[in-house]
Amino acid sequence: MNLPDLNIAKMRSHKENQYINLKENYEAELKGKKYFLRTYGCQMNVHDSEAIKSYLETLGLTETLDIEEANVVVLNTCAIRENAHDKVIGFLGKCKYLKKNRDDFKIVLAGCMSEQPDFIKEIMTNHPYIDIIIGTHNLYDLPKLLLQEFKKQVIEVYSSSDEVIEGMNFKRDSLYTAWVNIMYGCDKFCTYCIVPYTRGRERSRKLESIIKEVEDLKKKGYKEVTLLGQNVNAYGKDIGESFSHLLKCVSKTGIERIRFVTSHPWNFTDEMLKVISENKNIMPYIHLPIQSGSNNILKRMNRRYTKEEYLELFHKIKEAIPGVAITTDIIVGFPNETREDFEETLDVVKKCQFDGAYTFIYSKREGTPAALMEDKITKEEKEERLQELNKLVNYYANKNNQKLKNKVEEVLILGVSEKSHTKVYGYTKTMKLVNVSGPKSIIGKIVNVKITDTKSFSIDGEYVEELVK
Ligand code: SAH
Ligand code: SF4
Ligand code: F3S
Repeated sequence: MNLPDLNIAKMRSHKENQYINLKENYEAELKGKKYFLRTYGCQMNVHDSEAIKSYLETLGLTETLDIEEANVVVLNTCAIRENAHDKVIGFLGKCKYLKKNRDDFKIVLAGCMSEQPDFIKEIMTNHPYIDIIIGTHNLYDLPKLLLQEFKKQVIEVYSSSDEVIEGMNFKRDSLYTAWVNIMYGCDKFCTYCIVPYTRGRERSRKLESIIKEVEDLKKKGYKEVTLLGQNVNAYGKDIGESFSHLLKCVSKTGIERIRFVTSHPWNFTDEMLKVISENKNIMPYIHLPIQSGSNNILKRMNRRYTKEEYLELFHKIKEAIPGVAITTDIIVGFPNETREDFEETLDVVKKCQFDGAYTFIYSKREGTPAALMEDKITKEEKEERLQELNKLVNYYANKNNQKLKNKVEEVLILGVSEKSHTKVYGYTKTMKLVNVSGPKSIIGKIVNVKITDTKSFSIDGEYVEELVK
């Protein structure tokens, strides 16, 4: 099978999203069709899926949770670690089986894996039954591609461009809390990471369109926004803006809660701390990935800070923002990580006593510099280190949570608790999940909750009263 030419869209910086509602012309092709969507990966992908849903539903498709009755299956993929890749390949087997003898069953592969040339080749060779491969940069082309698919059988491959998309529509998963992309891509090139290759260079959205989006969300009744970017605090470098100025402007909209992920230690400024501590609607919660406590490993990871610089920043944040919660990301088993290197990581965890940490075993990603590094550490050793680390991380998460016992916390209630259908759940200002005994009528509200019990990953509480502003 010949590989089609990659259709590389031209750079269309800051051009308004060109999505046109094509529904009327194609009503017949799409009538009664259903889609099934599965999302892997980070918040970027979760939010991109909200855009995919909006596109498909504008075309007239409806969502189904039963893949067998779907006409369109969309897999929004992640490439960050090997197991993400394996999960998608496994799922494709099922799709292939369902597609047998069905012309009205289309498979769309979206997300970060679709931005990897080797993966595209693998798909074209081993999985030719896939109908559309669409990258992370041109999601708005999905309706057009899908309509073409239902009219004729062609495989189209779209690849990345360095666009900044404005004015996208989303079918948001929540009515109370919303993701707002403020920038795309990443320029940091940590040596282990695939993201700069799948999401392109750092590029910021226009400040005015971000503010307009937040204002619109506020008008619709949203209580909270989370500003999204691989390195949110690198916002604005390409357009003469700064993250702290953006934060100030978002705060002025008066939306009740503002969050942001992910902050890179290297881009953290004193001005940011000032703005966060001066504005009550910016939440006292920072996700600040450290990755490793060893200076040798940090250097080989190209993280651009030392253990000492991270600790200094950490304590500065703790001092400037009273009651702040800080979480982190840690990788164990980076190529040739020694026991001494790992102990430096344990030391940082002891010194910082994080509120929580996402911990990962290093996963080799072809095409990244770390993939070429020698690695003598066995899988068993890496797994043992992960377990040892997790024990310590959980100990401190628990310890921090216990401090909340019997305190009254402000919680934004988001829905019915998954654990117990008689309870509701929500998040404290510091991003701690609380299962609350209280009436369903408080869903969507910020309420006072008395904390009754605490564990590493969740906290129980009782509804006290609604907040009067
Ligand atoms: N931009 C963010 C997070 C990006 S991905 C940041 O820089 O902090 C989320 C996390 O996945 C990373 O923080 C890192 O801990 C982990 N990760 C990324 N690449 C990985 C790899 N190859 N193997 C294991 N974990 C990885
Ligand atoms: Fe990956 Fe590093 Fe960029 Fe985060 S900062 S997305 S870890 S390259
Ligand atoms: Fe995965 Fe892409 Fe996010 S690789 S972690 S979905 S940016």
